[in-house]
Amino acid sequence: MRLTSALVALAALTTAVHARGFADSCHDYTIDSNGYLKATCAVPNAADKTTQINLSNCLGNAGGRLQCQVNGGAMGSCRRCFFGGGKASVPPPPPAEMECDCGDGQGGWPTSWIDLNNCVSNTFGTLTCP
Ligand SMILES: *[C@@H]1O[C@H](CO)[C@@H](O)[C@H](O)[C@H]1NC(C)=O
Repeated sequence: MRLTSALVALAALTTAVHARGFADSCHDYTIDSNGYLKATCAVPNAADKTTQINLSNCLGNAGGRLQCQVNGGAMGSCRRCFFGGGKASVPPPPPAEMECDCGDGQGGWPTSWIDLNNCVSNTFGTLTCP
């Protein structure tokens, strides 16, 4: 019983400090032309912090389709990335859905969408993958 309570408390703590879905605890997120996601993120018991992550560390390009992939290197073969395209999902699109054109390796640049919330987390005010 006591162990169960401790495990529940630990699970809750882990969820709070490593929340997959950075968008729940970050705001003002943008993508720059170098493929960096920049955001201002909540830090437990401290002021919000502006932080960034190279999206190539979190995303891969699978034949023109974006996917969550640690060290996937996607940003070397994707361009024109931005938030707010919003065609991949049933409406309303998730707020952290990114749209890019990604090379398919055969000369094509199909448009691809991914919910970055599934690939990037806010860990103590630092963006991490997944
Ligand atoms: C981002 O990371 C990739 C490797 O995952 C690296 O090749 C690339 O140079 C990095 N981008 C920048 C702007 O540093």
